[in-house]
Amino acid sequence: MNFLKCPKEQSVYRKYKNSNLLIIALYVDDLFVTGTSLSIINEFKNGMSNKFEMTDLGRLTYYLGIEVSQSNSGITIKQEKYALKILKEACMETCNLAHAPMEQGLKLCKAEGEKSINATSYRKFVGCLRYLLHTRPDIAYAVGVVSRYMQDPKESHGLAVKHILRYLKGTASYGLRYERAGDKRLVGYSDSSHNVDPDDGRSTTGHIFYFGSSPITWCSQKQDTVALSSCEAEFMAATAAACQAVWLQDLLSEVTGWNKERVLIRVDNSSAIALTKNPVFHGRSKHIHTRFHFISECVEDDKVEVEHVSGDKQKADILTKPLGRIKFKEMRSLIGVEDVSVRNLEIKGVNESPLIPK
Ligand SMILES: *[C@@H]1O[C@H](CO)[C@@H](O)[C@H](O)[C@H]1NC(C)=O
Ligand SMILES: *[C@@H]1O[C@H](CO)[C@@H](O)[C@H](O)[C@H]1NC(C)=O
Repeated sequence: MNFLKCPKEQSVYRKYKNSNLLIIALYVDDLFVTGTSLSIINEFKNGMSNKFEMTDLGRLTYYLGIEVSQSNSGITIKQEKYALKILKEACMETCNLAHAPMEQGLKLCKAEGEKSINATSYRKFVGCLRYLLHTRPDIAYAVGVVSRYMQDPKESHGLAVKHILRYLKGTASYGLRYERAGDKRLVGYSDSSHNVDPDDGRSTTGHIFYFGSSPITWCSQKQDTVALSSCEAEFMAATAAACQAVWLQDLLSEVTGWNKERVLIRVDNSSAIALTKNPVFHGRSKHIHTRFHFISECVEDDKVEVEHVSGDKQKADILTKPLGRIKFKEMRSLIGVEDVSVRNLEIKGVNESPLIPK
């Protein structure tokens, strides 16, 4: 049907017709379609059902475990049913609530002296929690940390997983909301915590990207080399963010046909920002592996712009360390994770009346 496959994201296809755009996302035999005109969407559906046996499930409400709700005020996504299923399987439906997914300042380590726990069941629950990350950047750091001990999980790791589940119990209906209006620009936040892993001293990278006011991608990951200073850790994190920024920008322009714009990345360490802007590396930064200088190249080529952000507005902070309860709630709301149950949105005055078909 003359669709073009996006080289940057192989499950996405697009087609232009009479200056209208049609986009398809495909997973095995499930697909969803969106476009700038209802008539070309219908034309596509008819064309497909002439060729294949198809069931039209109508407006998207559920896709690979993600619950989607569309209204005039926007789109919400959550994985509430999936979260409740995990809690049921863990027999934790009636557990006490936790206010944050990980205790503040908790430092897990390999804990070789501790008793091992059932690795099969540990891996299963960590795997389930990882799937939840599709709509839950608020638990990305905690889930990232417990993922480090899949090989030989100990009692303290099992307790950390239980803690995440107790947090989930009180926040199963949390998710993300995408509004129609807003600034159509990619903005990323990059942060790192220096020297936190007690076993190997590596830092954690965190970045989160926004399109308009809502987050679209995020990552919390241990760095793969040791940073010698917090500035260096921040620089490595910013480099990882730059790779993501370039990929997102390419994908966006491929899918929409828009011109590529510079992606803004916000970093809270001035020394690290200076390092991205100064193409001459010497002294203390000389040993940083050349691949980390990718970001300097992106800045030089005008693909990425790095800007300073104050620590309290640093949205990637929640992806790099276990925060205390009050700070955690503040940051969770700052990154855009909220209770998206219909009841809660009504209380907040968000218009959730269903879309009226044209
Ligand atoms: C470990 O957990 C799995 C799955 O939950 C279970 O089938 C298995 O019997 C457990 N093994 C032990 C030694 O308890
Ligand atoms: C930023 O980098 C400098 C230089 O390495 C370091 O002294 C400082 O603590 C860092 N600040 C933050 C907030 O990470």
